[in-house]
Amino acid sequence: MNSTPQETIQVTLGERSYPVWIGRGLLDDHARWQAVLRGRHALVISNRTVAPLYLERVSRGLDGLRWSSFLLEDGEAHKSFANVGLALEALATLSATRDACVIALGGGVVGDLAGFTAACWMRGIDFIQMPTTLLSMVDSSVGGKTGVNLAAGKNLVGAFHQPRAVVADIGTLDSLPAREYRAGMAEVIKGAAIGDAGFFAWLEQHADALAAREETALVQAIATKLRYKAGVVARDETEQGERALLNLGHTFGHALETAGQYTALLHGEGVAVGMLLAGRLSERLGMSTQADTLRLERLLKAIGLPVGVPAGFDPEQLLALMRLDKKNTAGTSRLILWRGIGQAQIVSGINEAEVLAVLREACTNA
Ligand code: NAD
Ligand code: GLY
Repeated sequence: MNSTPQETIQVTLGERSYPVWIGRGLLDDHARWQAVLRGRHALVISNRTVAPLYLERVSRGLDGLRWSSFLLEDGEAHKSFANVGLALEALATLSATRDACVIALGGGVVGDLAGFTAACWMRGIDFIQMPTTLLSMVDSSVGGKTGVNLAAGKNLVGAFHQPRAVVADIGTLDSLPAREYRAGMAEVIKGAAIGDAGFFAWLEQHADALAAREETALVQAIATKLRYKAGVVARDETEQGERALLNLGHTFGHALETAGQYTALLHGEGVAVGMLLAGRLSERLGMSTQADTLRLERLLKAIGLPVGVPAGFDPEQLLALMRLDKKNTAGTSRLILWRGIGQAQIVSGINEAEVLAVLREACTNA
C-alpha cells in the first residue's frame, strides 16, 4: 500500500521559529499540534464553507480547553476590519488571557484575518495556521503577513505576526474545487519562476501528476515551494529587500483582479497571467528571452491555468490600477521582473510606455 509522504519545513526566525507540517490526516494528529498550545483558551476562526467540513475534527483536539469558534461568511469581502472587531469580541467573551491561541482553519482569507486578530489581542498572542486551500498551504500561511482589506484597497491594514506552527493537512484538499486547486498551483510555479530553475524543470516534468493531484508529487511540490519561501522569510522577514521578489506577477495580477471585480480571476489566476505579463515586459526590456516566457506559458497551460487577459479589459485602466500598487515607493514605478527562469529581480524606474505596450498587446489578443 502507498502511504502519503510527510514533510516538515522549519521557518528559522530565532525564538519565533516554527514548523510547517505537511501530510494527510494532520488535523487528527492532535498530540502533534496540541504541543503548541500554551494556555487554556482557544478561538478557532474559520468560515461557513470550511467549518462544516473540518471544524469538528479540530475541536476534538481542544477537549479540556475553554474554546469557541468565530465563523466568517465566505469570500474576500469578509476579510474586513469589522470582522476583526467581532473576532476580538469573541476573544473577550472567552476571557482569553495572554497565553490564548487563535487557530485559523481555512484558506488565505481566514488565515490573514485570524493572524491579524491574534496580532491585535493583548498586543499579540499565539496563532496556529491550519490552511485548507493549496494557495494558503504554499504561500499565505507561512511568513507572517497578516491583515485585512479596506474599501480603498486589498491588504492595506496588517501586521507581521508569525504563527507558532502550520498544520497543512493535504487531505482537506479533497474537497477543494478544481479551479481553486489550480490557482494554488500558480503560487507553486511562482516560487520556481522567481528563484529555482531546477524546481521549475521538475514542475515541467511532473505537471501531469500535479494536475491529477498525485500525492507524492504534490507533497514534494508544496515542500519545495515552502523550503524556498522559508529561506527568503528567514533572510528578510519584513520585506526590506529580497522578500519583495515573492511578488513576481502581483502588480499586474492585482490590477487584473481589481479590474475584474474579484470575480473574473481568482488571486492565483491573476498571479499566473501577471507572471506572464512580467515575463513579456522583461523580454521587451531586453532582460530575458522569449524562450523563457514560452516555457512559463506552457507550464501554466499544462496545469490548466489561464494565460491571457480576459476579454473586455482596458489597458489604460489596468495601468492606472498598477500605479496604486503598494509596492510602488513614492515617485517610482517598481516591478518584479526576471532575467529568465529562476532569476527574478526588482526593477525600478520603468518607463510606463513599455508597461502600457505589454498591456495593450495582451488586451488586443484577448
Ligand atoms: P479563500 O480563503 O477565499 O479560499 C478559496 C475558497 O475555497 C473559499 O470559497 C473557501 O471557502 C474555499 N475553501 C477553503 N478550503 C476549502 C476546502 N478544503 N474545501 C472546500 N472549499 C474550501 O482564498 P485563498 O486562495 O485560500 O486565499 C486568498 C487570500 O489569501 C487573499 O485574501 C490574499 O490576499 C491572501 N494571501 C495572503 C498571503 C500572505 O502572505 N498573507 C499570500 C497570498 C495570498
Ligand atoms: N506572498 C508574499 C509574501 O509572503 O511575502
